[in-house]
Formats: sequence, structure tokens, C-alpha cells
Amino acid sequence: MRILSGMQPSGPMHIGNYLGAVKQWVATQNHDAFYCVVDLHALTLQIDPEKLREQTTDLLASYLACGLDPDVCTVFLQSQVPYHAQLNWLLECVATYGELSRMTQFKEKAQRQEGYRVGLLTYPVLMAGDILLYEAAEVPVGDDQRQHLELARVIAERFNNRYGKTFTVPVAVQPKVAARVMDLQEPTRKMSKSVSSPLGSIYLFDTPADIERKVRKAVTDTDNEVRFDWEHKPGLSNLLEMYSSFSGDKPDDVAGRYSRYGDLKGDLATLIVESLAPIQRRYRELLADPGELHAVAMRGSLKAAEVAGPVYHRAARAMGLL
Ligand code: AMP
Ligand code: TRP
Repeated sequence: MRILSGMQPSGPMHIGNYLGAVKQWVATQNHDAFYCVVDLHALTLQIDPEKLREQTTDLLASYLACGLDPDVCTVFLQSQVPYHAQLNWLLECVATYGELSRMTQFKEKAQRQEGYRVGLLTYPVLMAGDILLYEAAEVPVGDDQRQHLELARVIAERFNNRYGKTFTVPVAVQPKVAARVMDLQEPTRKMSKSVSSPLGSIYLFDTPADIERKVRKAVTDTDNEVRFDWEHKPGLSNLLEMYSSFSGDKPDDVAGRYSRYGDLKGDLATLIVESLAPIQRRYRELLADPGELHAVAMRGSLKAAEVAGPVYHRAARAMGLL
């Protein structure tokens, strides 16, 4: 099954990224699966060049530490495969301004700053290209990317209708639980790399003490009944989904085992610490040899280009380029 997904090197991974996306990537990796660090996407917001280099290496280490195996799947760097930027232009001449300006994420991010970059508007087109270049059938992502995925499908279908069948129309795949992990302090807002209260996000490489503290302080409600109910108990339901995702038990079953919030929080903190410990260990080992990480990305990018090249040229020819 051809799979593609990616993540921006815009900061350290949090457990929303892990449970919503990377955990699925690891579970479904195969010789036909491609996972990229989408460094071109990270340029849509202000980022110091040195910081971008650091965070890119860091994210490569995080992918491998979480269990992506470069001998099984292809791990690569978006900017090392020039077809992404090239197909982006072709698809910008297929997508419409109206479609892009209606994207929720664009409206939210644009609102927060003056003089936002054109790339912030056109970013879902670059993302559509990432997917279409690999003829991906499935794209495992968290819930916040659903709208972008829908746009990628629209662009693919429009291209195929206008220029002849060129692209595979992709499908988004989301985990059954934890597709949208919420901020621990504001459980009506998603956990995010960019906007977050200091105790709102658990990062993959947080210390056990920090994880414990963040879980203990997570905002819940005051009626003290342990029940899985997003409408009335978003804070508690968020904790139950995290528990469920790490343990494999259903959220309702987990809720049935507890009568006190404090007990659930204590066990959840232990579960997270224990689940992340081997990932944290591997991460530290991998970061000790950044040269090897870059070599992995370079090998992956050469493999990725072999797949993306013919698809790019097919699209260019279909549009009338010589
Ligand atoms: P990003 O950090 O925006 O590049 O997102 C990388 C991946 O993590 C995408 O598949 C997102 O859908 C997923 N993701 C980001 N935040 C969350 C969250 N709070 N809950 C679940 N998945 C998330
Ligand atoms: N836009 C995605 C995000 O912010 C990252 C991304 C870029 C992506 N290209 C992709 C995800 C292709 C899946 C497939 O999370």
C-alpha cells in the first residue's frame, strides 16, 4: 500500500503529533511507505535558519526513535527532492485563490500576524503536491489536516478531469482515538507546537517529572465522575483518549476502572513515562551521530526522487510543457 505523510520541523514533537500521526506511521510502515520532514513548509512562518537546521535533524532523530525503520520505509527530506517545489507551481495553477483563502488553518494563522507570507496561503498546494508525487493511496494524519487532505483530493480530481488521468486520489487515514489531542490546560483547543500554555503540551522528550506534573495539573471539571463524554467533560475525555491510545484499551473501559480523577491521572502519567522511555533512549543515541541521520535522509531522498520524478514529468507533459 503506497503511503505518504510528513511533519513540519517547526519545533519538538508533542504527544499529539505522536498519537495522531507517527504512531500510525510506525504501525503501517512498509516498503512502499514514504515519510518526509517537510522543511519547505516550515518556511511559511518566521524561523531562524540555524534553528531550522537543528529542528530538522531533531525531527529526523525523532522519526527513527519512534520506530520508523529506514530499511523498511523511506525517510526523506522534502527540500532534497526538487520535484516538490516544481509540482507546487503546476498545482498553484490548478487550485483557486478562493479555495485556499477558505482554509481554516490559514485564517487562524493569518489572523495572528501582520504581513503574513504568500506561502502561508499556498501551503496546502505544496502539501497536495507532496502527496500526489508519490501516488499515495493513504495519508495517515491527525484530524487537523482533514481539510487540507480534502483539498488535495479536489486538486487531484480537477487535474485528472482537465488534463487526463495523472494522479491517484488520496484518502486520509486517522486513528480511532487521539486523532485530535487537546491542550491539557485548555481542552477545547488542540495541542499545538506554536500556541500553547506552558503546561498544555507534553513533549516526547519531556522528563518524567515534567510529564507527571503536566498530567497532574491537567484541567478537568469539578463533578468528579469518571466518564468518557467529550461534550460535558472535554478535559477528562482527552486524558481517557491518551490513555486508550497508549494502552490499547477502549476509553469507556478505562473510565470504568476509575472512580477518582487523581488515580486516573497518576496511572496515565506512569503509562506515558513508560511508553516514552525507550523512544527517549533511542533519540539520545541517534542524536549523538547527526552525520548518520543526514546520510539516512540523503539515501531516502534519492529513493524518493526516483518515484517522484516520473510522476512530476507526467504531470508537466499533461499540462502541455515540452
Ligand atoms: P505538524 O506538527 O502541524 O506538522 O503536524 C504533524 C502531524 O501531527 C499531522 O499529521 C497532524 O495532523 C498531527 N497533529 C498535530 N497536532 C495534533 C494534535 N493535537 N492531535 C493529533 N494529531 C496532531
Ligand atoms: N501540513 C501538514 C501539517 O502541518 C504537514 C504536511 C506537509 C503533510 N505535507 C504533507 C502531511 C503531506 C501529510 C502529507 O501537519
